[in-house]
Amino acid sequence: MTLQERIDELQTRVQQMQATNKEEVEALRIKYLSKKGEVSELFNEFKALSKEQKAQFGQAMNRLRQEAETRLADLRKTVENTVQTAQSKEDLTRTPDPIQIGTRHPLSLVREQIIDIFSRIGFTVADGPEIEDDLHVFGLLNFAPEHPARDMQDTFFIEKEEGEQQPTDVLLRTHTSSVQTRVMTEAAERLRSGEQQAIRVLCPGRVYRNEAISARAHCFFHQVEGLYIARNVSFADLRQALLYFAKEMFGENTKIRLRPSYFPFTEPSAEMDISCHICGGKGCGFCKQTGWVEILGCGMVDPNVLDACGIDSKEFSGYAFGMGVERIANLKYRVKDLRLFSENDVRFLNQFVSC
Ligand code: PHE
Repeated sequence: MTLQERIDELQTRVQQMQATNKEEVEALRIKYLSKKGEVSELFNEFKALSKEQKAQFGQAMNRLRQEAETRLADLRKTVENTVQTAQSKEDLTRTPDPIQIGTRHPLSLVREQIIDIFSRIGFTVADGPEIEDDLHVFGLLNFAPEHPARDMQDTFFIEKEEGEQQPTDVLLRTHTSSVQTRVMTEAAERLRSGEQQAIRVLCPGRVYRNEAISARAHCFFHQVEGLYIARNVSFADLRQALLYFAKEMFGENTKIRLRPSYFPFTEPSAEMDISCHICGGKGCGFCKQTGWVEILGCGMVDPNVLDACGIDSKEFSGYAFGMGVERIANLKYRVKDLRLFSENDVRFLNQFVSC
């Protein structure tokens, strides 16, 4: 092969160099342009040529080296771009990550279930403020001023700030009975005129009590209270409604018992137990071997409360009940530590996909 032919042949190969990654580009550089590379070797031979021959092939040789360098630089750029695009482009065939679906909070599930059960016997939901006044939380509910019963529910009072004209009896509601007093005073006129026959409401909501936080107590929790007022409402009506609720919530075989108790706003008052749904009433660790677990407070609305709210206690009577949502959730799901409900630990919350 003449020198010219060798230059031409090498030039053709240099022009056709291909590479798909950095390593291949480097391999090509070594093959052609390193000290022992083919192009460099040709230059070594070139040095030994006569003056005339040097003049004859000089330009072609330089062009060859130039082309090899340019081609390698181009290839280097191309492979770098390819890597970048591959990284930035989404692989549309990739199996997608599972979508993170949130779950309902166990307290929401239980609250909705309580509401659902009572709404089937005509109860509707009433709402009221969490920041309340003394009148609606205590005054209208037959708590005499300075009555020690106010201490039954350690209250968070909201302090008057200096220079503020705010009344001093502002507090965080300790029970949602405060919503009942609002509903009663608001409906009193319609009951008197006959425009409305009855009050039948559920009052769900958050309540606050000044308690040290532990596994069994918290400074806030959730209640659902109920109120039914009409003509000739009896204790038997109350018992029947609560029995229906207990069976719907804890199963057809659930039994209830009512123990005499005391609340300022109901007379007579009772606390309701259900037969332990874990041992079926035989006695176990959960019910402390008694076969019964307490779930709510209830009673006939005290005539003083009706009158204070503007409802004639000689014409109307009613019952009320109140339960803690956490308590019911504890019984249903056997959650031992109350604090879990407000810690928002997804490992806990993910366990409550449905009720
Ligand atoms: N308000 C009471 C409480 O918070 C519960 C209750 C409601 C009791 C209605 C009787 C009647 O403890």
